[in-house]
Amino acid sequence: MKILVLNGPNLSRLDLREKNYYGDISYQDIEKACLQGAKDLDFEVEIKQSNDEAELIDWLHAAADSKTPVIFNPAAFTHYSYAIRDAVVMLKAPCIEVHLSNPLSREDFRHTSVISGVVQGSIAGFGVDSYRLAFAAMSELVK
Ligand code: DQA
Repeated sequence: MKILVLNGPNLSRLDLREKNYYGDISYQDIEKACLQGAKDLDFEVEIKQSNDEAELIDWLHAAADSKTPVIFNPAAFTHYSYAIRDAVVMLKAPCIEVHLSNPLSREDFRHTSVISGVVQGSIAGFGVDSYRLAFAAMSELVK
């Protein structure tokens, strides 16, 4: 079974972002964690990143059509994109929200997720392990 991992804006430039939240994690570390997580649990995986809301929505539509489970870090769109929320609602297979940092321990605007209410569950605050934990949770949901 294939799992789609979607990553939202600015996650490809973690090396230039706040070290106190993201440490030394790079986008390549996210890719490695996902490849390993998929291998350990015998999933195929496709990993994508976009800074473009429309492109993320198109990928969610395709995942809905193919009934593909999604592990999703919507990044800043988490906090305000009703368009992405509406696309997540249309998914047919489980979706798990992930965050590297714990948004609840950050600025007030990050305390709202418009995505959390329409996914199976959310995992935040464990760095790249958030993705590994999401693969473990996904395997329980889909196997
Ligand atoms: C993030 C948290 C978001 O608040 C932020 O906008 C990001 C990354 C995370 O993985 O910790 O870009 O989704």
